[in-house]
Amino acid sequence: MQALLIVALGGALGSVLRYKVGALVLQQTGVTAFPYGTFTVNVAGCLVAGLLIGLGEHVEFLSAGVRLLLFTGFLGGFTTFSAFGVETIALVERGAWALAALYVVSSVLCGLAALWLALKAGGLGALPGSHGQGRCFAAFMARNAKKARRARKQPDAIELLKRDHAEVKKAFRQFEKAKYKDPNACKEFVASICNAIEMHATVEEEIFYPAVRARIKDDELMNEAQVEHESAKTLIAQIGKLSGDDPMLKASASVLSEYVRHHVREEENEIFPKAKRAKLDLEGMAQRILERKDELKRQL
Ligand SMILES: [Fe+2]
Ligand SMILES: [Fe+2]
Repeated sequence: MQALLIVALGGALGSVLRYKVGALVLQQTGVTAFPYGTFTVNVAGCLVAGLLIGLGEHVEFLSAGVRLLLFTGFLGGFTTFSAFGVETIALVERGAWALAALYVVSSVLCGLAALWLALKAGGLGALPGSHGQGRCFAAFMARNAKKARRARKQPDAIELLKRDHAEVKKAFRQFEKAKYKDPNACKEFVASICNAIEMHATVEEEIFYPAVRARIKDDELMNEAQVEHESAKTLIAQIGKLSGDDPMLKASASVLSEYVRHHVREEENEIFPKAKRAKLDLEGMAQRILERKDELKRQL
């Protein structure tokens, strides 16, 4: 129902504008022998379509609703093939064969030229996704809808885990650069990194690793990852016993950072690609990871 209203609104706006533009063109030219009004709106409609498509490639605004409003509604109401057909036949019936031919040829060529110029102006050589193979406009619209869905989509499990990796690596870089005068602040920062690593390791061990292990059949790779988790946890336990002004704190954090970087490299280069190829339910897994993390945060 909402879609019908959007199309109706776009169609009404397009029709009113077509009427206004047609009347204005007639008033300006004063010519009735050649249908300049319809000619103008059809060429202008092609130009607007091209500009919208070009703009849609740069700015994410072509959601399903906006497409319905602009293309199906507004441009559908603005441009007019039926009037073009009626006027062509009227010219033929009046015996104005040359004008009829000129009208048909110029409408088609000027419309195509306007669309092409608008696409060029938007930095596109052809309809996005066509690669010059003549894929239809509906394919472009479907591709755009897919893009909009993708933009709305929640991150999957691998994207969530990669974000954790990036955050922990960033925190280590901050710690390496920082010069702590307050030992408590130093201890607190290291503790926050350790908590993040432990939480990440927990969701991997409870949710991600078992699902991947069952599917990829590479126990050696998964065992290695598990051993690396254990080593990191052992070091985290040792770090937990150190005070903020202990000279071993910085050295221990630095070794932990090395462990993490090595492990992250292996996960991202070996485990994640295999998990992707295994076609696991990464979206469902992401939801479970987020829920489990919420639980763990509440327990902190
Ligand atoms: Fe990880
Ligand atoms: Fe891991």
